[in-house]
Amino acid sequence: MCAQYCISFADVEKAHINIRDFIHLTPVLTSSILNQVTGRNLYFKCELFQKTGSFKVTIPFNSVACIFSIPFHILNLLDSPDYSVRFDSGQGHMPRLQAHSVPRIPAYIVVPQTAPNCKKLAIQAYGASIVYSEQSDESRENITKRIIEETEGIMVHPNQEPAVMAGQGTIAMEVLNQVPLVDALVVPVGGGGMIAGIAITVKALRPTVKVYAAESLNADDCYKSKLKGELTPNPCPPETIADGVKSSIGLNTWPVIRDLVDDVFTVTEDEIKYATQLVWERMKLLIEPTAAVGVAAVLSQHFQTISPEVKNICIVLSGGNVDLTSITWMKQAERPAPYQSVSV
Ligand SMILES: Cc1ncc(COP(=O)(O)O)c(C=O)c1O
Repeated sequence: MCAQYCISFADVEKAHINIRDFIHLTPVLTSSILNQVTGRNLYFKCELFQKTGSFKVTIPFNSVACIFSIPFHILNLLDSPDYSVRFDSGQGHMPRLQAHSVPRIPAYIVVPQTAPNCKKLAIQAYGASIVYSEQSDESRENITKRIIEETEGIMVHPNQEPAVMAGQGTIAMEVLNQVPLVDALVVPVGGGGMIAGIAITVKALRPTVKVYAAESLNADDCYKSKLKGELTPNPCPPETIADGVKSSIGLNTWPVIRDLVDDVFTVTEDEIKYATQLVWERMKLLIEPTAAVGVAAVLSQHFQTISPEVKNICIVLSGGNVDLTSITWMKQAERPAPYQSVSV
């Protein structure tokens, strides 16, 4: 089916074998209140409970295994000081590196200066080096090129790298097992790596299940691309509280999204904030605003136009890296000594 795409379902299956021993099988939770509000059966795939607090943990595991063509469990045993792998963080979100520190491969993470503090701290805590860029894709790419020249490293793009997309497709393998009657998955989209992997998997295993993209109205390149039928990146760095969806979809993810994503829902900043608060208050889940984009989409008016037959809907809660220092009373409190050594 997928000859024209940069990954196939076989790649997702291989990724599953590469990474399954290193990641959590995240739970799927429900909320009767949110079912009442939306009139559907909602299932929340809790990737915020993934190691490092986000689905992005699959990046280092599957990429290292694929790029070095070494099964990860073998690589794990090697001391590979000669390799320098560089992970591009995309648009300000922490790439959640963990794997690089296990096989001792140095990692350089390019993040915009404006990235949330909690993500910068976590990158450092996992032992990677942070390199700052401006907000634009161009600045990130230029800095990335420079680091690759200096370190002879390998670029792992956070959403266009096929190994990344395949790793993230494993989320859909899990969902199809955990929610056998699922009618649709709703996925926040930035560069589109996660939704592309998910769409490849869903349409290979259960083609009637819908795959819906959710994005901020302020970063609506996916919506515009689908509308025009051609890749239409955001013209300038978008302003949105959902920092993980600021990236534009790219050359590798666009063909998959064009053909296999059934619809795109855009939501306003207020809708994202309201959905974040709702999940915090009602479900007690500390999701980051990016993860609330899918929730906001399902709560939106546009979503009411979807047939009631699409009853069982799984929303991917993609991450839980919330900048708690942006909450005023936390910022003011001084950390007592015992807490100072605990970074993130
Ligand atoms: C928490 C979270 N959700 C969703 C996304 C979007 O993923 P993608 O860029 O693969 O579309 C990101 C991207 O970094 C993210 O950090």
